[in-house]
Amino acid sequence: MMGSVSHNFHFHDLQPAQDDFHTDVIAGLSGKTKYLSPKFFYDEQGSQLFDAITRLPEYYPTRTEIGLLQRYGEDMARLLGDDGILVELGSGSDTKIRVLLEAIQPQTYAPVDICREYLRMAAGAIAEDHPRLEVHAICTDFTKPFALPDLLDARQRAAFFPGSSIGNFDPAQARELLRSIARLLGPAGRLLIGVDLKKSPELLHAAYNDDQGVTAKFNLNLLERINRELDADFDIDAFRHEAFYNEKLGRVEMHLVATAPQRVRVNGCRFEFQPGESIHTENSYKFSIEEFQVLAAQSGLASVQVWQDDDALFSVHCLRPV
Ligand code: AVJ
Repeated sequence: MMGSVSHNFHFHDLQPAQDDFHTDVIAGLSGKTKYLSPKFFYDEQGSQLFDAITRLPEYYPTRTEIGLLQRYGEDMARLLGDDGILVELGSGSDTKIRVLLEAIQPQTYAPVDICREYLRMAAGAIAEDHPRLEVHAICTDFTKPFALPDLLDARQRAAFFPGSSIGNFDPAQARELLRSIARLLGPAGRLLIGVDLKKSPELLHAAYNDDQGVTAKFNLNLLERINRELDADFDIDAFRHEAFYNEKLGRVEMHLVATAPQRVRVNGCRFEFQPGESIHTENSYKFSIEEFQVLAAQSGLASVQVWQDDDALFSVHCLRPV
């Protein structure tokens, strides 16, 4: 995998602006209500912890979505069309695209990810395993509008956006992102997107409060990352993981709650925490099928087809620009 690069592998580095972790952390902790962006969860340790989350018995989304891709892959492939470009947004793991590639034979696979090293490794391995597939890996931040490299122009385009990552965005941001995906696809394009469904608060609670405490570690790793990278002195033991379903807003919220008063220093800046005060670290929006179709329609995307599992845990939508 390292060293030899397949003839069918091309790497396009659009040089995404590095997120300013330091600036964002200081800004997020300075307001009246403290927050940190969930995009900062995924350093090396966070990515490993997320991988462990996807295998937890309580965390149903990953295995349910993979089950849908296995069961309905042929139907999905028919709607997306062979011989075109299949763009994958923010892959994160290559399991799902490998399942989809069993059913669909695009001419070009174009994974888009902000993490250069991960992208090079995962996309390079796909290229090696699919010698007749042209792999054009694109390193950029897909949450900001971007263009596909010229050589990929004017072909049938499909996009794959798995994992219910769309749930991390507030409705207004989600609409903006869907609109920019619709523009990228063009009028004949298709979007295949995984969306977590609304369900009983008990099941949602369990999925974000697993018995082994992996999700708690994943959440708390954010403070450890700040300590590691930003010369900070959070007392990790004085914070606890909290996750609950906010029924009114239709989202799971994750927080880190101070269990004791604390004074923390981050790169010389001081922040105080009262006992019980929280840092809001993630929203994970859940949708009924109809709710997501409304959000999509507001973003210029019409429903072509939607699949869900027998227990109505997770959905995959095929959408087209209107
Ligand atoms: C990757 C954003 C889809 O919201 O379920 C898992 C992240 N957070 N457990 C989700 C996550 C806590 C996950 N997404």
